[in-house]
Amino acid sequence: MLKALTTVSEMLARNLDVLSQQPLLVCGLLEDNLPAMLADAGPAPRIFTTDYSYYQWQKNQGVTDIEFGTQPKPHAASALLLLMPKAKAEAEYLLAACLPLLAESAQIFIAGDNKGGVKSAPKLLAPYCDQVIKLDSARRASLYQAQLIRTAVPLKQTSWQKGYIIEQQQLQVCTLPGVFSAGHLDSGSRLLLDNLKPLKGRVLDFGCGAGVIGASLLKRHPELMLECIDINALALEATRLTLAENQLDAKVYASDGLSQVTGPFNHIIANPPFHAGLKTFYHTTETLLTTAKDYLAPGGSLTLVANAFLPYPELIEKSFGHCETLAINGKFKIYHATRR
Ligand SMILES: C[S@@+](CC[C@H](N)C(=O)[O-])C[C@H]1O[C@@H](n2cnc3c(N)ncnc32)[C@H](O)[C@@H]1O
Repeated sequence: MLKALTTVSEMLARNLDVLSQQPLLVCGLLEDNLPAMLADAGPAPRIFTTDYSYYQWQKNQGVTDIEFGTQPKPHAASALLLLMPKAKAEAEYLLAACLPLLAESAQIFIAGDNKGGVKSAPKLLAPYCDQVIKLDSARRASLYQAQLIRTAVPLKQTSWQKGYIIEQQQLQVCTLPGVFSAGHLDSGSRLLLDNLKPLKGRVLDFGCGAGVIGASLLKRHPELMLECIDINALALEATRLTLAENQLDAKVYASDGLSQVTGPFNHIIANPPFHAGLKTFYHTTETLLTTAKDYLAPGGSLTLVANAFLPYPELIEKSFGHCETLAINGKFKIYHATRR
């Protein structure tokens, strides 16, 4: 499958002569088949991604020089192309993770959608480069180029860690750049935690983010067998840190939706995503609602929080035959269904 070109990759396609002069390390918000495009024009790029779905898709395309994780392997790279991620903090982090692999005078490119904050490229590059030039700009996409003044210091992940405490439960939450609920517990997650029915057995924290839901559940019920999944490597690492900080234990692993998950579970709990990149779409959550039942033991349940306006009850009813609303506040609703 060749995904449609975005305006960003249309712009990159016009600049392949410059971009393919050296093997690129590419990272950031990868949205279409840029590696194949670059490989056709020159040396194949090395890809570093924090997104497990992109990693799997590229692997299936036969791309071998691709890494999934919180930082690239410490192998030297010739030049960097950063595709602007949605959060500026994540862009800062990715630059700090990738630039130590580049030699002095190496080329750095930053591309992205103007609505996605690419205009902050000169500011982001200011600590590393003297001059940042705009190479191209069209249809709301821009490409910047700069040269590294000196080799950057290796990334120290602990200096990017932040945290907060959920007083009610004495839970220390650790977060990393771009991970959901960076500075406080999301009000949807709080409503979910406040309205859960009793839990037992094997539990899945779907889209675990910084691990707030899973860690809170384990704190209340240490006997639970918890599994935490997320598509994002920084979220998975934040969850591992949160669990460790609170002396809790769970299986934490990457999965795009339920793709890597093996049932049956007694409960699936989720504050599921509804934003992906700069677009809003519901595909992941709709798939969860329609397939969760197959991953539940008889009597097992799915409980989730969602924006009240989303048409999820119909989907849940269609799959489970019923849908109970456990709680409502101004913005969110808690839905619950049991596999009969
Ligand atoms: C609304 S956040 C909730 C995070 C956390 N559970 C909380 O309550 O703070 C949704 C999470 O789902 C993850 N996510 C997005 N798409 C996903 C997918 N296809 N498969 C698994 N997780 C996904 C995001 O990375 C994010 O951490």
